[in-house]
Amino acid sequence: MSVDAVPDVVVAGGGVIGAAIAWRAALAGLDVVVVDPEAGDGASLVAAGMLAPVSESLFGEDDLLRINLLALARFPSFAAELEAAAGQPIGLRREGTLAIAYDPGDYAALMRLTAFRRSAGLDAEELDSRACRKLEPFLTPDVHGGVLFGGDWSVDNRRYVAALRTAMVAAGVRAVRDRVTAVRGGEGEAGPAVLLADGRVIECATVVVATGSWTRSIAGLPDELRTAIRPVKGQLLRLRHPAGLPQITTHTIRATVRGTDIYLVPRADGEMIVGATQEEREDQLVTAGAVHDLLHDAMSVLPVTSELILAETCAGLRPGTRDNGPVVGWAGPGTGAGTGTGRILLATGHYRNGILMSAATADAVVACLTGQDPAPEWGPFNPARFSRSAVPR
Ligand code: FAD
Ligand code: GLY
Repeated sequence: MSVDAVPDVVVAGGGVIGAAIAWRAALAGLDVVVVDPEAGDGASLVAAGMLAPVSESLFGEDDLLRINLLALARFPSFAAELEAAAGQPIGLRREGTLAIAYDPGDYAALMRLTAFRRSAGLDAEELDSRACRKLEPFLTPDVHGGVLFGGDWSVDNRRYVAALRTAMVAAGVRAVRDRVTAVRGGEGEAGPAVLLADGRVIECATVVVATGSWTRSIAGLPDELRTAIRPVKGQLLRLRHPAGLPQITTHTIRATVRGTDIYLVPRADGEMIVGATQEEREDQLVTAGAVHDLLHDAMSVLPVTSELILAETCAGLRPGTRDNGPVVGWAGPGTGAGTGTGRILLATGHYRNGILMSAATADAVVACLTGQDPAPEWGPFNPARFSRSAVPR
């Protein structure tokens, strides 16, 4: 499509983060354009869709835990509004996560996570082996015990992203199918704009960079911000129940098998997600070894997994950062400060929790766009922490 009128905002990247921002910015009355080549290989379409604020937090990551909790609290009302706006369900499930342990050593580790969770005010119900199998009858008899984390949710991330894209278009967002090669944002640079691979330039009042792991390839951003992003590959399986087999689990199940974490996430439509590898690599190739290991580990948790259909294997790149936290806020201290990034906002680096953090991120970015302050929980995640020249604002 052509972009004749100069929009208020151009969002580079239409994954879960870019689409959520675009939708909310349009609802706030801004004229928004989203640019994305729509190749379909973004992390948002690969993800498992867990809305689980603690499972992947490390001890000591308290700021991250606080932002995850803010994100979880924001999700229900955002989801309800989205389903109404898009007129399509997003597959929200509220059954919770059952984390299981195979032996006393695993169980001790699980108890430490449980204490961490409780310290954050979250539910955690300890269960013995029998109670675990009562809750999930197909679980391996080898289970030693477990903990039910009742407050964890999940969403069908593909349906969720589709709904966000429908809602953003319905709210008046214009979509441009292309790749942003560079951004321009400061005084002395002829005003904010994005440069596209086909040579076009789209001028605007503010640029939002939401290109996930690909943020590193966007020229015009300060090097220290581009290099703060670190792609972390995750391989994942999508299984389907054959006709006649009842759903083999109702809760998300997490376990540590042979020292590796695994999760199984059920969907209402009979799909089951098995994930995921965690590799410091940036290719999106699916390897035989990963498929083997994921299936082996899934079958050791739920032996009947062997009866499911292997529907899809996929690999995505989590946009990680040097400190595992997202990067949300102004890229530079202000127009004219010599960074060239005075009207550029960053919304990237959501690593393992971008689906969970999408609604809260959209709120934070729209606050910046409309001259307000984001929630204080975002303070530690300002891009200034990576930037030599920037100061928080
Ligand atoms: P992406 O989804 O990667 O989107 C980036 C978009 O930018 C893409 O659409 C791409 O086409 C576009 N783009 C790239 N380059 C350009 C360019 N130059 N110009 C314009 N557009 C461009 N999170 C959870 O909360 N829960 C989970 O259970 C979960 N499970 C995961 C499992 C796996 C295996 C993986 C890989 C990730 C998982 N995540 C999960 C993390 C989550 O998927 C990411 O944090 C989130 O998708 C990041 O969203 P994004 O929009 O920033 O990036
Ligand atoms: N949050 C799940 C994953 O990153 O694999």
